[in-house]
Amino acid sequence: MVIAVDGPAASGKGTIAARLARTYGLPHLDTGLLYRAVGLKVLQDGGSLDDESAATEAARGLDATGLSDDARLTTGEAGEAASRVAGYPGVRAALLELQQAFAAQAGGAVLDGRDIGTVIAPDAPAKLFVTATPEVRATRRWKQLTARGIEISLEAMLADIQRRDDRDAGRGAAPMVQAEDAVLLDTTDMGIEAAFDAARRIVEAARAKHGL
Ligand code: DC
Repeated sequence: MVIAVDGPAASGKGTIAARLARTYGLPHLDTGLLYRAVGLKVLQDGGSLDDESAATEAARGLDATGLSDDARLTTGEAGEAASRVAGYPGVRAALLELQQAFAAQAGGAVLDGRDIGTVIAPDAPAKLFVTATPEVRATRRWKQLTARGIEISLEAMLADIQRRDDRDAGRGAAPMVQAEDAVLLDTTDMGIEAAFDAARRIVEAARAKHGL
């Protein structure tokens, strides 16, 4: 069974996807890490995030192993760089095959990102679009960062989240949008346990519907 989990930054989709993967014994790919790795590679090579061909080249040469162990990919800088390079069709095309191969594994997989249910795995039987208000998402991300000793104001965090939402949803190439057949999960008033329970119920309903 393929489970597609999409949604904006700090909606809870990453945590939900990881827990669904554990629960169903499926491999999990956080596709945001791919875009983060491409953005950082461009910066590390001294290139500009405005340079589509440099970003496309970085995406074509990406070594996708061990990304989840690379702490540099979790920084705000990497997230911002990711959102910039993710707008380039060449970058998205270069990362498509890898993601589709991951989704096509025997037994299935869980993928989370922005375009899993629309572009990467449009036939996935279980699709979730996880969201929450920008204010709640900014507060969650701010708490995570301040707990790690990173100083940032809540206002700056909210502006950052809104800028990313606008860029991710407004781009021409595979914009962040809820797939028609995805189930909306609004986690604004939920803690992680309640959000995960709701996600599992959505997946169980999809399994029953598709006889899986
Ligand atoms: O989920 P994240 O914050 O790690 O994603 C970082 C950026 O990568 C996000 O702003 C948009 C982009 N992204 C994308 O365009 N498509 C995906 N499937 C995953 C992430």
